[in-house]
Amino acid sequence: MNLSISLGNLWLKNPIIIASGVFSIDSAPYFPLPDIGAVITKTITPLPREGNPSPRLWETTGGLMNSIGLQNVGLKRFIDEELPRYLELSLPIIVSISGEKEDDFPQMAEKLKDKGVSGLELNLSCPNVERGGMHFGKDAEVVKRIVREVKRASSLWVMPKLTPQAPDIVETAQAGREGGADAVSLVNTFLAMALDIKTRSSRLGTLMGGLSGPAIKPIALRMVYEVAKAVRIPVVGCGGIMTAEDALEFIIAGASAVELGTVCLLNPSVPSEILKGIKEFLREEHIGDIRQLIGSLKTSNNG
Ligand code: SIN
Repeated sequence: MNLSISLGNLWLKNPIIIASGVFSIDSAPYFPLPDIGAVITKTITPLPREGNPSPRLWETTGGLMNSIGLQNVGLKRFIDEELPRYLELSLPIIVSISGEKEDDFPQMAEKLKDKGVSGLELNLSCPNVERGGMHFGKDAEVVKRIVREVKRASSLWVMPKLTPQAPDIVETAQAGREGGADAVSLVNTFLAMALDIKTRSSRLGTLMGGLSGPAIKPIALRMVYEVAKAVRIPVVGCGGIMTAEDALEFIIAGASAVELGTVCLLNPSVPSEILKGIKEFLREEHIGDIRQLIGSLKTSNNG
């Protein structure tokens, strides 16, 4: 049975990718690394960031809200101290990068280009920062410009991560492709609120946060379907995937691979369960190659 897939010129042994933000070099021992196709690092910015005030997490019905604010050690410490340890894991490492200015992206790509990473995910979708983040990702022209400049600055494989807050996510994905993206990932979290009625204030340290988890899955799935249908580069699906069945739905809708995020916070060994479930399904359906399933959705009965 073949489980390997390719995202442009990036080959993965299976379609399970650990999403940015749920894996760190210190949590690596808790993850079933042999069952994982690739890991995306927590987003790195040019300079260190302390992140947003606490509370930073709030559990909602069927979901999780976060407002971390891109806390990270900054690019220099990441390259000097963390990246060498990531590269020892012997699996593709995709570095998630972000910045407050458009120029930050090509400058970071330049510094990462010969460091042994497998590619870059451009975080153009964080809802928890005042500058950059989803403010870039909501504007298709900005997405195109940033991808184009990153591709000019490095020969690295590049995948913008898109925001569901964009007015038209298909247009944004198309802009990424026109800029030269090798793949697109979608979706990041949905901008959301949760309030404490007694204190009449936000449950988070910021007024709003990003919602992830099963609550967003059907919307993420619809967006993945629409983008995969319209845009001729591989799509990586993300948003509330908890089970093998969820992952298979994204693949059938057109995703070449899936990112597991929130579910890994609950259970870091879940990638093994999801991979096992995918294999069982392929066996039951007599499908010898997972690539046969990508975009295999039948729409003829649905008008
Ligand atoms: C955060 O750091 O606030 C979350 C990251 C993201 O949503 O991109």
